[in-house]
Parts: sequence; C-alpha cells; structure tokens
Amino acid sequence: MSAEKTFAIKGHLIRNTDPGSLEVLRDSWAICEGGVVAGVYPVLPEKYAGIDVTDYGDRLIIPGLTDIHLHAPQYAFRGLGMDLELLEWLETYAFPEESKYADLDYAEKAYEIFADDLVASVSTRFCVYGTVHVEATVRLMQMMEDRGLHALVGKVNMDRNSPGVLRESSAEQSLADTRAWAEECGKFRNVRPILTPRFIPTCSDELMHGLGRIRKETGMALQSHLSENPAEVAWVIRLCPESKGYVDAYDSFGVLDGGRVVMAHCVYNDFQELETLKTKGVYLAHCPTSNSNLSSGIAPVRMWLDLGLNCGIGSDIAGGHSLSLFHTMAHAIQTSKLRRRILDGSLAPLTVPEVFYMATRGGGSLFGKVGDLSEGYAFDAVVLDDSRMLSPFPLSQMQRLERMIYQVGPDGNYVHAKYIGGKLVYSADKIR
Ligand code: GUN
Ligand code: FE
Repeated sequence: MSAEKTFAIKGHLIRNTDPGSLEVLRDSWAICEGGVVAGVYPVLPEKYAGIDVTDYGDRLIIPGLTDIHLHAPQYAFRGLGMDLELLEWLETYAFPEESKYADLDYAEKAYEIFADDLVASVSTRFCVYGTVHVEATVRLMQMMEDRGLHALVGKVNMDRNSPGVLRESSAEQSLADTRAWAEECGKFRNVRPILTPRFIPTCSDELMHGLGRIRKETGMALQSHLSENPAEVAWVIRLCPESKGYVDAYDSFGVLDGGRVVMAHCVYNDFQELETLKTKGVYLAHCPTSNSNLSSGIAPVRMWLDLGLNCGIGSDIAGGHSLSLFHTMAHAIQTSKLRRRILDGSLAPLTVPEVFYMATRGGGSLFGKVGDLSEGYAFDAVVLDDSRMLSPFPLSQMQRLERMIYQVGPDGNYVHAKYIGGKLVYSADKIR
C-alpha cells in the first residue's frame, strides 16, 4: 500500500490517553489518509466504503514505538563484552568496532544486517548514532530510507580522547565534514541528519562551540550523552572547571537551546539540572538495559515524569543488548522497582502504561505528531500476533499487551505487520 492511498486496518487498537492509562478499542478500524490517521471507528463509516481494508482479526494494533537512542555500528557486538564500565568499555569494545567503518565494504555488510533487523523490530522511528565516517553514515541512511524507515541519524563528532583512527584531525575538519554531510543528506526524505557530538570528553571546546553555531544557523536536531557514569561525570567536571556541572557545560557551548535535543542516560542529574533540561525542552533518553549492563546506575525516571520532562526509551545498542523496545520497557519497570527498594523509597516504580507512553508519544514527539493512533497523528502502527502464546484462561487485550512486553524475545518476534507514515514496511506474510 502506498503512503498516499486511503486504506483501513482493523483489530484491537491500544493507545495511551495520557501517561497514566491505556485505552483498548476492541474490533476497531483505523483509517489512513495521506500517511496520517484520519480517524478511528468501531464501524467503518459509509464514506470509506470501497477503500482497501485489512482485517487483522484478533491481533493487537499499537502505535509505532520510537527508539530514541542507539548506535548502529555497535549492533555487530550486541550481547558481547558486558564486563566493563563505560569508559573502559568504550576503549575496549566500542571504539575498536567503530574504527572498522572506515572500510565501506565492512560498513555495508554490518549496516545491512542492522537495517533489516530494524525493519522487523517493534520500533518504527529511530534516533541513531553512526560513526565519524561520512561515507559509511550516508550508506546507513540510504539503507534505512530504502526500507521505509523514519529516523534521525548522526555522523559522530569526536576530536579528542579517542583512538587515532577515530579522532578527527581538528575541530575545523570535523565541522567542515559535518556541514558537507548535512548538505548531502538533502537527498533523503524520511531519514534526516542530526548533529552528534559523542560526549564532552571526546569533543574539544572549539568543536562544541562550532556545533552550537551550526545548530543556530540550520536548526538541526542534536544528540549526545549526559551524566551516565560517575567516572565520566567526574571527568567532565575536570575538563570544564568553569562550568557548574555537566548540563551547564553543554549549555555553555550553546547546544541545548532551540528544541529537538536528545540527551541519553541522565542517571546523575540533580534537581537543578533537571529543571534546566525541562526549561529547554531537552529529551531525556532512558536506556535501562545499557545502564544495567555497564553498571551505570538507575535513572530517577519517576522524577522526570513528575516534573513533566520530555522523555523516551532507548535501546542504546550495544550498551543495551537488545533491539527490542519491549524488552527495554520491561527492564525500565524492573529497575525502577530496584531503585525504589535500594535507593529511594519515595519514588514509585514505573507502570506498563507509563513506559508505553514514553516509548510512543514520549519519544515520538521528537518527530512531530507521532506515537498515537488518534486523528492527525502519523500512521505508524504495529500489528502484534501472540496467537502462539497459549493460555489456559482467557486474557484481556490489556493483559496480552502486558505479557508481550515482558515475554518478547530479543528480536521482537511478535511483529506481524508494521506501517510507518502509512506505508506497509513489514509483513510477516510477505517480507517487504
Ligand atoms: N558515551 C559516549 N559514547 C557512548 C557510547 O557509545 N555508548 C554509551 N552507552 N555511552 C557513551
Ligand atoms: Fe549511547
């Protein structure tokens, strides 16, 4: 089905009305017109008689999920090398693997595997890191565009504290490459460039200021890492002695203002810093599987929700081991319970509707009206098939969703069909 055509799909629709609750619309129709949800109805309205329809029967249909933080080149070593904390892990596993992407043949082979797995996953939109290499990053973007995915993808900037082959020769060179790359990305429609300073330790002040200037000129989105690990935070304080802290350091480079900024992790930000992030509308990417694997900590997500911060869920491949956002959502709930038990009894654990909201409308809003099966939202929908999961007692639609979130395998194997912006990008019956 093309994105332009009007069509309808039917099943049990599940969506968030607000962060605290989920709504089930049983045996309902969702209409797609021009790639957008035109309405949701219990009976197909007369005016739509004759349009293409697909009845998904007893299956559940949810809004598309947005994976708001992951590293494409790290997918190759997912589930490996989980024995170190962040800074040693970067040196030992991440940087050596990312160095290989100077070789376009290798990049192509690795990114094909990654892009195919994105298509089959439960997620529809992505906020992705590439590497410092322009050619490899453009190839990745092309592969994602060709598969009908919508994403923000970044050519990484790093000009210090990195191994020679990954360290860009100067801030000037890094900025020139970034400008040229952004221009080349004009050819893509649904996969857009995002400025990607890796994090302060690998980016000189000159580079950060330059990226702040590019943001002001172009309005490009920006992503980075923030307050993930105690040793990293202490390092940033040493690197930026004139700043009040990690958030203030980013702010001093002029990269936080102007919207569409994603900061991954935010495990160790205090109340004052969270207030600043809120004022600037920064998106916080919660990456609980990564935070467990790299012994980073447990982010105070309940506080983020209470403060009304923009936040979403990230798989953080390959700090996180699973591309499945369901898996990551379940882990977010589990670690919030551990945080309450061990650290702070005043913060209630997260609930299924809350993590569902973060993964749909929460992160989705980075892309505009995304993450809801309501009129006016992009027609991003995932059809879930749990028919092979037998139960001796009847389950409600809500219980079925909850169980799939907890039981999903690493590759999101409940996905039966997936629409992005009204385009069918995956069908278990007819793979692409
Ligand atoms: N901080 C800087 N780079 C990275 C990365 O690749 N992964 C994670 N988890 N944190 C980072
Ligand atoms: Fe990351």
